[in-house]
Amino acid sequence: MNILLLGSGGREHALAWKIAQSARVGQLFIAPGNAGTALVGRNVPIAATDFAALADFVEREAVDMIVVGPEDPLVSGIVDYFRAHPRLSALPVVGPSAEGAQLEGSKDFAKRFMARHGIPTARYATFAAGEAAEAKAFLATMQAPYVLKADGLCAGKGVLILPTLEEAEAEVEKMLGGKFGAASARVVIEEFMSGTECSVFALTDGRHYKILPEAKDYKRIGEGDTGLNTGGMGSVSPVPFADAAWMQKVEERIVRPTVEGLAAEGIDYRGFLFFGLIDVAGEPKVIEYNCRMGDPETETVMLRIASDIVDLFEGVAAGDLDRREVRFDERAAVCVVCVSGGYPGAYEKGKVITGLDVEGSEVFHAGTAVEGGNIVTAGGRVVAVSSYGRDRAEALERSMRGARQIDFEGKYFRSDIGQDL
Ligand code: AMP
Ligand code: GLY
Repeated sequence: MNILLLGSGGREHALAWKIAQSARVGQLFIAPGNAGTALVGRNVPIAATDFAALADFVEREAVDMIVVGPEDPLVSGIVDYFRAHPRLSALPVVGPSAEGAQLEGSKDFAKRFMARHGIPTARYATFAAGEAAEAKAFLATMQAPYVLKADGLCAGKGVLILPTLEEAEAEVEKMLGGKFGAASARVVIEEFMSGTECSVFALTDGRHYKILPEAKDYKRIGEGDTGLNTGGMGSVSPVPFADAAWMQKVEERIVRPTVEGLAAEGIDYRGFLFFGLIDVAGEPKVIEYNCRMGDPETETVMLRIASDIVDLFEGVAAGDLDRREVRFDERAAVCVVCVSGGYPGAYEKGKVITGLDVEGSEVFHAGTAVEGGNIVTAGGRVVAVSSYGRDRAEALERSMRGARQIDFEGKYFRSDIGQDL
């Protein structure tokens, strides 16, 4: 089977690494990929959102399945595009339809969906441009801190948590006034939930689902979860508080009602579901949905899936996921991300990277490129070093050894990933 994977980050390198281990794979293509994905498959210089060029490639290279890494192509309707294609309507595309991807593409859609299906989440209200007065009146009924979310996709920048009512009022006015363009034409205001976060993932064929290993990511740039938000500085799996009893609550109250709710509403959803959860005094609640895998969670979750992931993808395509098996690797996995100096602010690119061959760890490329025979930095997050350990401490130590060995000018990484758990 020839597989075309879309995307170019650390998540996609980890997915490509896992897919490439399957005996069922003939050719693995990655569009557009990065210097890391080129080590496990063939990169194709096509943007993940250029559907027409992807369709040409699929026909030319006899691609049997598309696996979508990032949210953009899903929210833009790649699944619907192929379903409507005159010759490729039967091509399996792992990912939801545009309507299903609204779980991530519109915070208001996600909140309304959860309300309809009794899925636990923060109390909220949504306001549109011209409703700043109503929004402020609602804010006055809430307690600090105040959570404001742009409705649409904002590359992870659309959520603001503000300590005072005055700041929240000023921000809601700016957001409804176009601070994030069309994405903040509507704003969700919600109750602040206090607790520890956990990312839970499932694959669904639209009727059945399989829960994958859970993970926790670390978003702040600084040790001890301080400083600015980033695309992710590391992740761990498993998450100790997500024990069998907690995961049973997650399955019964969140995963199953989500899959059943999508089916009941006739929404075509055959792909990954990402539940961004928070544990509030022992009870799981949904912070957000995403319609794809997490980054950098995938860089530990893939290590912890012992079964053939292509078999699971085939189950998604055939609608018989209930007959497939997901086995977990019982070891712990930790990933440490090396970033460019200055990130998440301004940083330089093109720095030569050395020491990428780390024994006993997987080095997943996130922002790398090949330039004049060297592998160079090409983004804020450069590589994710992922390791197994008997426990989290051992996995962290191994990933840190790798993060210290890898070198480029300005390199920075956090050494406390998973230490809070
Ligand atoms: P999101 O972009 O939805 O992932 O939100 C970014 C981050 O904001 C989340 O990972 C949480 O840390 C935080 N957050 C979002 N909504 C809430 C909430 N209602 N209560 C507390 N923290 C939140
Ligand atoms: N790690 C969070 C995300 O992928 O959105």
